[in-house]
Amino acid sequence: MNIVLMGATGGIGSALLQQLLQIDGCKIIATFARRQPPIEAPNLSWFHFDLAQPDDPQILKEYVDGRLDSIDLWVCATGYLDGPLGGPEKSLRALQSSKLAMDFAVNASGPMLCFAACERGLRKADRPVAVFLSAQVGSIEDNRSGGWYGYRMSKAALNMGVKCAAIEALRWRNDACIVAVHPGTTLTNLSEKYVAKRTSNLQTAEVCADQLVALIESIQPATTGALLRLNGETIPW
Ligand SMILES: NC(=O)c1ccc[n+]([C@@H]2O[C@H](COP(=O)([O-])OP(=O)(O)OC[C@H]3O[C@@H](n4cnc5c(N)ncnc54)[C@H](OP(=O)(O)O)[C@@H]3O)[C@@H](O)[C@H]2O)c1
Repeated sequence: MNIVLMGATGGIGSALLQQLLQIDGCKIIATFARRQPPIEAPNLSWFHFDLAQPDDPQILKEYVDGRLDSIDLWVCATGYLDGPLGGPEKSLRALQSSKLAMDFAVNASGPMLCFAACERGLRKADRPVAVFLSAQVGSIEDNRSGGWYGYRMSKAALNMGVKCAAIEALRWRNDACIVAVHPGTTLTNLSEKYVAKRTSNLQTAEVCADQLVALIESIQPATTGALLRLNGETIPW
């Protein structure tokens, strides 16, 4: 099984990587940006790709195409909520173009450009699965409390990109399944400032990765183009 995992240094990404490394005969390309790769393995190669810099996705394409004949599983676990440019905006007064540009680069346009760079391998696989980690707060229908402009807007944009890609991939005729997934509230660097540690539905990254693997194993091509919870339920766009 050939796998590309974007954001394998993150909380959820690194827990998922540990699980995927257990698959017999798998070959994994994993990406990192600011944090150094935490583990090495014979079937694992690391590629540096910073979505906030104008890194050329063509370089990723050449790297992946040169190492994998096809891509059976593609996962994007990158994401940006808070950083030197500021955190989630509570009001219109807080909006800044540089912060919004960062949100869109890391959460929406970057993942889509990386997916596009991997198209050749995905088209060559039989029933490939692609999972973009998104967020329920990117659901327009579900938005009842407002705020978090940049994160919500960029995740909604990602969701639209996923839907477009799923529709286009029907023409690949290989039963590709391309979905956005809300991983649930998970204790990681991204979330720790914002989740109450005693939230009853707070999960560890390891539990999240277990459920994500179960979802990936059970997902059917007919599900393509949906926004899902880890248990496979659909979230409205
Ligand atoms: N945790 C939650 O409760 C929660 C809830 C809903 C949705 N999500 C979504 O789940 C996904 C994973 O989040 P997480 O909780 O695991 O967050 P995390 O621990 O902060 O990991 C974020 C990942 O994104 C990568 N990343 C950040 N900026 C980047 C950049 N400029 N270029 C390339 N990669 C970059 C990081 O790589 P480096 O560290 O190497 O820079 C890291 O691999 C995200 O899409 C997030 O929006 C999480």
